[in-house]
Amino acid sequence: MKEIYTLADLRSWKKSVKHPVRLGVFGDPVAHSLSPPMQNAALEQCRIDVRYARFQVAPAELADALDLCRKHDFVGVNLTLPHKIAALGLVDDADANAKRAGGINTIKIEGGRLHGFNTDGKGFARAIREEFSVDLRDLRVLILGAGGASRAIALQCAREHCERMVIANRTFEKAKALADDLREFFVGPKVLGPAPRLQAIPWEESAFRFQMGHIDLIVNATPVGLDRRNTPPIPARILEPHLMIYDTIYTSDRTPMVTAGLEAGARAVNGLSMLLHQGALAFEIWFDREAPIAEMKKALLES
Ligand code: ATR
Repeated sequence: MKEIYTLADLRSWKKSVKHPVRLGVFGDPVAHSLSPPMQNAALEQCRIDVRYARFQVAPAELADALDLCRKHDFVGVNLTLPHKIAALGLVDDADANAKRAGGINTIKIEGGRLHGFNTDGKGFARAIREEFSVDLRDLRVLILGAGGASRAIALQCAREHCERMVIANRTFEKAKALADDLREFFVGPKVLGPAPRLQAIPWEESAFRFQMGHIDLIVNATPVGLDRRNTPPIPARILEPHLMIYDTIYTSDRTPMVTAGLEAGARAVNGLSMLLHQGALAFEIWFDREAPIAEMKKALLES
């Protein structure tokens, strides 16, 4: 198996007899993806004789690459940056959740048809339960970012009727648009003092500071911290010990956001558990069986 496949490889695809590659992740870049070791551990554990590989696919190549997977009888694919939104327009159908999230991260191929799903939101909910032993419905959540990842997370928080949701984004209008889009979920009877249940705020220290006493969980869904030298999206000096901090970035154990949280005496974790659970849910979609979570987690920790 190659370290990274390309569209050219898909064009001249030869099915190997032993452990044929029939699953993969499409990304640009994709070299850093930890999905292959995680999914291959699951496939081995379940004695399923196919393998999962990385595919370097540029945006302009996505349609052809998906078509070739259909032709070569793939079981499915995962989509990562920057393909989640575009892929939604290329599948034969998508479930209601993926449509509402505005993107897909999982495709199942059956009888030559591409079915789209999005497991990011549910994967996030499971990760929060695992890391902090709480459910989203009991939390006041501040989400940093209003892009694709934030959208899936915000939709899940809204669906699970979290107590409060605040969206902060560098481009304020995008935070406002996302909040407005999810307003229908927040018209219920939960009323909690003076802070509005659903709010978009500007990306400013004073706005963050004002929220700290009215928030339990902060989620970083921006790429700030992908580079360990980045400063955290919210400075440690305004974080408080009662907070739970979830960074969707998993490129290092202690991302800048995690470090800032721990410095402030808060609980703070990186995004490995979300990667695990969105992957386990994808596995369950492909094979209609429970994913071997323990083996997948072990593979991630060893990668
Ligand atoms: P993803 O699919 O991972 O969410 P995306 O759709 O490109 O990626 O969204 C990236 C998010 O991170 C956006 O909310 C972006 O803010 P803008 O809407 O203002 O672009 C946010 N982001 C990216 N770089 C940032 C930075 N340096 N500081 C703050 N926010 C940033």
